[in-house]
Amino acid sequence: MTSLLLTNIGSLVTNDPARGEPLGELRDAALVVEGSKVAWVGRRQDAPAADGAVDLGGRAVIPGFVDSHAHLVFAGDRADEFAARMTGTPYSAGGIRTTVAATRQATDQALTANVGRLVTEMRRQGTTTVEIKSGYGLTVADEARALRIAEQFTDETTYLGAHVVPAEFADDPAGYVSVVTGPMLDAVAEHAKWIDVFVERGAFDEDQARAILTAGQRKGLVARVHANQLGEGPGVQLACAIGAAAADHCTYLSDADIDALASTGVVAGLLPAVEFSTRSPYPDARRLIDAGVTVALATDCNPGSGYSSSMPLCIALAVREMHMTPAEALWSATAGGAASLRRTDVGRLTPGARADLAVLDAASYIHLAYRPGVPLVSQTFTGGRPV
Ligand code: NIG
Ligand code: FE
Repeated sequence: MTSLLLTNIGSLVTNDPARGEPLGELRDAALVVEGSKVAWVGRRQDAPAADGAVDLGGRAVIPGFVDSHAHLVFAGDRADEFAARMTGTPYSAGGIRTTVAATRQATDQALTANVGRLVTEMRRQGTTTVEIKSGYGLTVADEARALRIAEQFTDETTYLGAHVVPAEFADDPAGYVSVVTGPMLDAVAEHAKWIDVFVERGAFDEDQARAILTAGQRKGLVARVHANQLGEGPGVQLACAIGAAAADHCTYLSDADIDALASTGVVAGLLPAVEFSTRSPYPDARRLIDAGVTVALATDCNPGSGYSSSMPLCIALAVREMHMTPAEALWSATAGGAASLRRTDVGRLTPGARADLAVLDAASYIHLAYRPGVPLVSQTFTGGRPV
């Protein structure tokens, strides 16, 4: 196995609490990669010899971003819907059906190319792990196709047949739930790790969501939930009651929702690019963090509610608009995402972890929020290789 020494790292974020909370930051550091993994981290002058070496000139190195929530398998865009929103038309879940119609029409090649394009954008911006959902097919064949495409790009595939009730089932939502829990689940189960439901007025109610998520659990999928995005509702409590990994959005929360998240350890996924793009109030990250809830930041990249692939944008918004500290925001975009996906091998740079990392054209991770909109990621490594 060949080894590579990355040296002259001005600031290295390890996310190793043994090296100091919250980020385990080391100054004037070095890191050795062996094969696809981190073999050693420490002070530059203590670094062991390696087969090759790269001098990073004092740049900062951070764990690659773990984007725990994205919808990348779709066709077309909704730029007109966005423009209308900016002059006052509110966001509604109904726009999903526009993308469903375009996605069903698209070829496999076009959908695969779209995912590839967005994953490339993400990698350029430092993302090394991304969760990818279905949810714009909403037929047995189209959902299975979306997940077969998604699994070409990630292990973190999520079955979201319960995104909205498609137009052809408008008069028979119960019939659609039977498809989602029956033949559609059978067709996708081997291609998905996770099952998700959009629990919201206009999408799925509590009873429907429980039936769908528990059917998925019986097939070995692990639950995650779109919860409390457009108003208070049962999503967070349901996620906590059934042992979901994550409740994402969390924009409208009651005190009881916060207590449930804190006591069950369900990760709250905050998706501030959505509030930015729908001009909505941001979730109250401080209230969650101060209550001891584990918070992940993710893009939710999708053509409707927020079409950004940029974790650095999410960090900047989390700091500026949600009052997270730069350290909290970086932790949530890396280790928090890993917690959301129940991964211990990513989101940290400690011996034995995957060598997934981003090199910043800056002296510290603080610049991610301090210099919003500037492409600071100069190199991304996944599994020890530059991409
Ligand atoms: O996470 N909330 C539901 N789904 C997406 C939006 C999908 C769309 O508008 O196309 C979301 O925001
Ligand atoms: Fe989403």
